[in-house]
Formats: sequence, C-alpha cells, structure tokens
Amino acid sequence: MNIFVPKESNSAETRVAASPDTIKKLVSYGCKVSVEKGAGTLSKITDEAFKSAGASIATSKSAGTADVVLKVLRPTPAEAKKYKKGAIVLASMDPYGNEKDVEAMAKAGLSSFAMEFMPRITRAQVMDVLSSQANLAGYQAIIEGAAHYSRALPMMMTAAGTVAAAKCFVMGAGVAGLQAIATARRLGAVVTATDVRPAAKEQVESLGAKFVAVEDEEFKQAETAGGYAKEMSAEYKAKQAELVANHIAKQDIVVTTALIPGRPAPRLITKEMVKSMQPGSVLIDLAVERGGNVEGAKAGEVVKIDDVSIVGYLNMPGRIAASASLLYAKNLLAFLETMIDKESGKLSLDLEDELVSATLLTHGGKVVHPNFKSAAPATKKAPAKKPSTKSSGAAK
Ligand code: NAI
Repeated sequence: MNIFVPKESNSAETRVAASPDTIKKLVSYGCKVSVEKGAGTLSKITDEAFKSAGASIATSKSAGTADVVLKVLRPTPAEAKKYKKGAIVLASMDPYGNEKDVEAMAKAGLSSFAMEFMPRITRAQVMDVLSSQANLAGYQAIIEGAAHYSRALPMMMTAAGTVAAAKCFVMGAGVAGLQAIATARRLGAVVTATDVRPAAKEQVESLGAKFVAVEDEEFKQAETAGGYAKEMSAEYKAKQAELVANHIAKQDIVVTTALIPGRPAPRLITKEMVKSMQPGSVLIDLAVERGGNVEGAKAGEVVKIDDVSIVGYLNMPGRIAASASLLYAKNLLAFLETMIDKESGKLSLDLEDELVSATLLTHGGKVVHPNFKSAAPATKKAPAKKPSTKSSGAAK
C-alpha cells in the first residue's frame, strides 16, 4: 500500500500530517510511505528525519499513485483531481460552507474522511483531532497573551517592590479553555473562568481557578447529551453580559473559546466591555474563525481598541506546529490503523464501523455523509457532529 504525505499547499498551514514515529509504524505494517520534500520543515521535521524513519522523499506527483493521502487541510479541487480514484484521504475537512470542494472530492472518486467528525467515544479518543489541537491552542493562547501583555504574570516580591499577579479570565471551559486555565495558573496568574455547562464548574475548580457564571435553571440544562453547549436564551445572555461586564473591567488577560456546534460563536464581549479594561490588557479570541466571541476581533489580526489588544490569530495550533503536528499525526495514524489488515498490510474499509460512518464524507463518486448528502446548501442543517472550529486556515 502506498501512502503519501504532501506539503500543505495553504501557505498559512505550518503543520504536517505525519511524524517520524507514525511513519515507522506504517512502514512496520509493510506500507510504502513517501513524503513531499519540505513537508515537515515548518514543523521542524527535516526530510532526513522522515527518511531515517523509513519514508522516501518525493515530489507532489507521488499523490497520483497513493492509496492513502494523509493531510492537515482538505485538498483543494485541483489537488483532489490529481489523486488516484478510490484513494483514501484523511484530513480536517472543514466541510461546512465548502460543499463545492466536498463535491470535487466525490467527483475525483476519493474516499475522504473528516477527522473532526470523529465520535467522542472512548475508543476514538486517540483519533480526536479537535481535542489534540484545541488543547495546544489553549496553551498557545496564554503564551500569545503573555507576549502581548505589558506586565508580568506571576506575583514577584523584589527589593524594588512587588509586581502584582495578572488576572486572567477564561470564557468557555472546554478542551482549549481548560488548558488555558492550567497554563495561566502555571505562569502564576490569578485565574477565573466561566462556561454555560454545569459540568465545567468542577473541572475549572479542580485546576485551581474560580468559577464565575450565571447558575440559574437554564444553566443546569445547558449541556447536550454529546457534552456540548446549547445556544442560550436572550434572557440568559443578558444576565451573563451583566456579570461579565462587572468582572471584565478588572481583568488583564481574557481568553475566549466559546463555541456552539453548528452555530456562529456567541458574542460574549462588547466594545464597551473592552473599553472598560486597563491599558495594556489583552483579549485572545480563539473563536474568531467562527465569527468571534469579542466584538471588534478580526480574523488573522491584532486589533487595538484604546490601548487594549484583541488577538484574532487564525490557526493557533499552527503557531506551535512542531508539537501540534506530532499529536495530529498520531490521531491520523490511530484511525488509519483501524483500516489496515495487520497481517497482509492491505487496506480493508469497513463501512459499517461507526467511526467510518461518522467521518466518511465522500465514497464511490458520491457525497455520502448524512449532513451533506441531499445537499446544496448543506450549511442550513444542524450538524450531527461539530464542524471544524480550529485550524482551518485554518486550524481545529
Ligand atoms: P467547544 O469547542 O464546542 O466549546 C468550547 C466551550 O465553550 C465549551 O465548554 C462550551 O460549553 C462553551 N460555551 C458555549 N457557549 C458558551 C457561552 N455562551 N458562554 C460561555 N461558554 C460557552 O467544546 P469542546 O472543547 O470541544 O468540549 C466540549 C465537551 O466535550 C466538553 O465537555 C469536553 O470535556 C468534552 N470532550 C469529550 C471528549 C471525549 O469524551 N472523548 C473529548 C474532548 C472533549
């Protein structure tokens, strides 16, 4: 079986979909792996390292003979056309709003899998790209916040005086938010956090942060069976805004990560709230790719309102690419392993497998995923699983 790992064609993408470790594993199953020259450069993996792991270094032409293509981002229609008919493609497909590209993969006869649709069940935890990348995004958000903040994070008592600890507020305590809390705590900040899901309270407190939220009847019902947040009522949002407005004026670094599956990101912070913050404060909006939690945040930019910075970087995991690629590569390997017959080293795709049926976007020349099948424009339908939120330009 031939596996190809291309260099990502989107210049904003710094990650790569394989690592020396995952290549060693694939080679041990009898697979022939080729990696496009320079594919790992931005993730600090040299061609030599890939070669020592057992891969051959190739050009983009090798895509045409590969049975499996491992990618970070969805292939462009031009790329999809060059792949072999029937090839398996694993990537973060970000299919919502990109139905034409999904059609192009179907037309090219690809069996394409959207890794972000992986069910959040125990067996698939090791394949969960949303978690592996969101965790690093949460860490990196604090690092970027600290870099833009004009003061120190920990309290320092020196002969020349005391530097006060920074106050950090994390909005949305999912995977990214919890890592942001843990990182800010490690750096010595005083951390508070909020969420609409009651389960988040205990998780926040177990990390040594204070939970701040409107804990009314609606809050008690805000978690879906899948563990995600529901969209809150206008009444709840008003109460939340009042609470946040009072709290935020005293904060130095704010990280927002709030998302609702299949919906635009909830607007949690108004311009007035931003203006109430002290000069030199920083907001990092990790939801910027889905419309943003902070009014005034711009995708890919750092905006200043008065002297407060709003950081709207895209592809936060891509800013820590060397770590993000290792985890992402492992996620892909774990899924691909379920399709490889370990004895013969051949591919065997089980369409009945729940991981396959949840993630398979196109197969046999058609768009087969239930959220897209019937579909132009499929965006109006609520997704069964959460659409990609990061890393689409892209990072989830
Ligand atoms: P996400 O990326 O969809 O959203 C981030 C956070 O924003 C969530 O905690 C959500 O409750 C919060 N949020 C939404 N609206 C908000 C609002 N108006 N105000 C404040 N916060 C708001 O969430 P993520 O990180 O994907 O995690 C969702 C859940 O899935 C969590 O419970 C997490 O523990 C769980 N999970 C389970 C896994 C598994 O079982 N394998 C793996 C990863 C996560």
